[in-house]
Amino acid sequence: MKLQCSVETLGEIGVDSLVLFVPVLTKISDKNLRSLDVVTDGAVTTLLESEEFTGKNEEIAVILNPPEYEAARVILVGVGEKTKLNADSFRRAAGVVSRSKALQKSTSAAFHLLGSERDDYHQATIEGYLLGSFKQLDFKTGEAAECKNKLESITFVLAGRKSLKKIEKAVERGNVVAEGQLLVRRLVNTPSNFLTPTMLADQAKSLSRKYKFKYRALDEAAIEKEKMGALLSVSKGSQEPPRFIVLEYNGGRIGGKPVVLVGKGVCFDSGGISLKPGLNMHEMKGDMAGSAVVLAAIVTAARLKLPINLVSLMPAVENLPSGVATKPGDVVTSRKGLTVEVINTDAEGRMILADALDYANKFKPQAVIDIATLTGASLYVLGYSGAPIMGNNEPLLKRILAASEKTAERTWQLPIWDDFRNQMKSSVADLHNSGGRTAGTAAAGAFLENFIGDWPWAHIDIAYVDVEPSGKPYLPKGTTGIGLRLLVDVLSNWKRL
Ligand code: BES
Ligand code: MN
Ligand code: ZN
Repeated sequence: MKLQCSVETLGEIGVDSLVLFVPVLTKISDKNLRSLDVVTDGAVTTLLESEEFTGKNEEIAVILNPPEYEAARVILVGVGEKTKLNADSFRRAAGVVSRSKALQKSTSAAFHLLGSERDDYHQATIEGYLLGSFKQLDFKTGEAAECKNKLESITFVLAGRKSLKKIEKAVERGNVVAEGQLLVRRLVNTPSNFLTPTMLADQAKSLSRKYKFKYRALDEAAIEKEKMGALLSVSKGSQEPPRFIVLEYNGGRIGGKPVVLVGKGVCFDSGGISLKPGLNMHEMKGDMAGSAVVLAAIVTAARLKLPINLVSLMPAVENLPSGVATKPGDVVTSRKGLTVEVINTDAEGRMILADALDYANKFKPQAVIDIATLTGASLYVLGYSGAPIMGNNEPLLKRILAASEKTAERTWQLPIWDDFRNQMKSSVADLHNSGGRTAGTAAAGAFLENFIGDWPWAHIDIAYVDVEPSGKPYLPKGTTGIGLRLLVDVLSNWKRL
């Protein structure tokens, strides 16, 4: 997508579609809308009076061939009540307009946010457009593989030069952030036969070359040498060898302590010997969403040149049953030395995260954030509406909650109480990996807590929010890529805790 910003008169822009982002109107107070109304013999007035279009969020109306306009059509899209506007109003509106036939058939478009020169609104608008129009056609053939969206360029039109530089930056930033989120979606959607742990490592490697950050991957022998017994207990049943992927981006002070991100990378989770039911098991190709987020986060940090030192750890495995797979009741020794009784081989995410969190100590991190499609129980905590977070450091959790407000990627804190810690103690080993049906999401957090070091830590459970079940304006049905905007926002505003 070609993106630019310019200062022009709306009527003089020769594009296929001029898109106006319009707040709720009772009368036409905006001078641009008034001139459109005048040349169209009151088309805008008619839309308002008939309540066909009033500017409510997600409403859309098309005016074809407006006289005295160079544009072939004007698309009006509602952003909602003026007093309630926020960045997400624009993200949603842009998501709706991104899937309109009128815009998809255009090759060039101009976007104008009526009465707003705010940079965050412009950033959100391009994010909404790119996220909303996303379609993955990699596995289609013939006509179905053709992209129906013909749009090639978007020009953001501003009223004056005053905010031009600031908004140019914001649009570029929105573009990079949205591309990061789309990278997450693409990886999560990729079937496990096209994305084994080895192939995930290859993807990380080629991205590290393109965007200039460091790449390293421990192979099975190196993982054994690291004594990552919890991780190896998961990958044992699969023919595909595990990989422990280590990415480093140094945009901060030389030698400065990094922030370490850890992402669950289960390339396929069948449950192992504790086999999952067949219904929807195919969705478990996406059980590496956490890894995809931390990979895309480091790509995005590098592209945005964030002044921060960052490490992304991606423990990548497949969880399959076989004659050599880990069995319920087995006891394994984690990298840290704590023993774990495997009650349920389907509680594999916490096993690989346990060793990855312990490995994070190597980097003397200033903080560690892990992100994982960890518990099915999170569906009963916040549904598809938000991600439960836990941790040991209130200021860090507050930053994540604040980033949620800004990015509209909602999170909410759960406690780690002694009840949950006790729930994860085994009668056989130090810990067990499943503590029964109650408080599954918080108990998983309590399990992970055993493996952290002396640093601020937060855990984000994105099970279910990584998928949108019915389709929202900029989250088409399917994989959301949630967590990327959130983490990038946290990292963009990073200060020592
Ligand atoms: N990957 C799943 C969690 C999950 C389930 C994510 C559904 C997205 C949708 C995880 O590995 C898992 O199976 N967790 C178990 C843990 C239990 C056995 C303690 C679960 O939540 O049922
Ligand atoms: Mn599982
Ligand atoms: Zn899993």
